[in-house]
Amino acid sequence: MPITTFSNVDDGLEPNQRQRGHFITNIDVDDKRLWVPYAEGVWFQPCCFNLTSGGFTVLLKGLPSAKLGVHYHVGTVRGYTIQGHWRYLEHDWVAKPGTFIYEPAGEAHTLVVTDDSPEPALIMFMVEGGLIYLDKPANGSLAAYEDGFSALELCRKYYRDAGLDARRLDALIR
Ligand SMILES: [Fe+2]
Repeated sequence: MPITTFSNVDDGLEPNQRQRGHFITNIDVDDKRLWVPYAEGVWFQPCCFNLTSGGFTVLLKGLPSAKLGVHYHVGTVRGYTIQGHWRYLEHDWVAKPGTFIYEPAGEAHTLVVTDDSPEPALIMFMVEGGLIYLDKPANGSLAAYEDGFSALELCRKYYRDAGLDARRLDALIR
């Protein structure tokens, strides 16, 4: 007999036992202070730190010609391009405004904003689980590790150093 009525999914916990409710946050792409430096010519603004799955969601900004080191994903990634042109060196497509990508776990890739991108790239990335930066594209070894926890620490340090209110980050933790 199929289910015919729905309401809310209930985990059986009292509301005060649970910290995984819905929330919203607002990104301000024009506020330079809110962009957390990540790599040469690359910044991000955090949307969610999923410390249950280990993943995170960010809006990434990259200047034309900027590059993110080759990295391997232990979980899936979804991305949506808001502006700019970018690609992975390992694929033959170029993402443009409106391009959605789905990346399976187990893929290593190198993100570059194209030299001829008409504007900085803005990409929303929803990352499940950690990513492992490699020292070389093929048969690489661990160079660095990133996940929701390390991204939160990076943001907290930047917010402290920049005089921003780090409580804003706490509100993004699930
Ligand atoms: Fe990636």
